[in-house]
Amino acid sequence: MSEKKQQVSRRQFLNYTLTGVGGFMAAGMLVPMLRMAVDPVLQTSEEGDLKSVDLSVDDITNEPQLVEWKIDQVDGWYESEVTKSAWVFKDDNGDIIAHSPVCKHLGCNVTWEGSEKYPNEYFCPCHDGRYYKDGTNVPGTPPLAPLDEFDQKVENGMLYLGKAKPREEA
Ligand code: FES
Repeated sequence: MSEKKQQVSRRQFLNYTLTGVGGFMAAGMLVPMLRMAVDPVLQTSEEGDLKSVDLSVDDITNEPQLVEWKIDQVDGWYESEVTKSAWVFKDDNGDIIAHSPVCKHLGCNVTWEGSEKYPNEYFCPCHDGRYYKDGTNVPGTPPLAPLDEFDQKVENGMLYLGKAKPREEA
């Protein structure tokens, strides 16, 4: 009984070779594309980092003052410098509070004592939204939630702010 020789035809050889080379080339193209697509998602955002707002703790009074600072924002592959702002003051216990100026109604900017009619309150000019000094929304005005508060730390006597986070509803 003779042993049957297994032979690869020229057509099969070409098929295997082209499939192998084609697959290798496709993987070589797809891997960098996939990495580019996923990479921005894997990057840590600057938004969560605490940045110095160039304000000494000694200069913070019990009167809210507007501070501004810049952060590098990465949106996908687009990097830009964004100006952030906060209303900063010390409360009755001497604790530092940093409120987001973004109104919780539709996102306009609030100002401290922005209306002569409502002293000692934040005021939003868009729809007469109001907040008490502690950031709580005044019931019966359009905002339905308190102002967000920034994460913060003090280092070498200077204030650092991070991300603005929502508080409990009033
Ligand atoms: S956006 Fe502030 S009250 Fe409407």
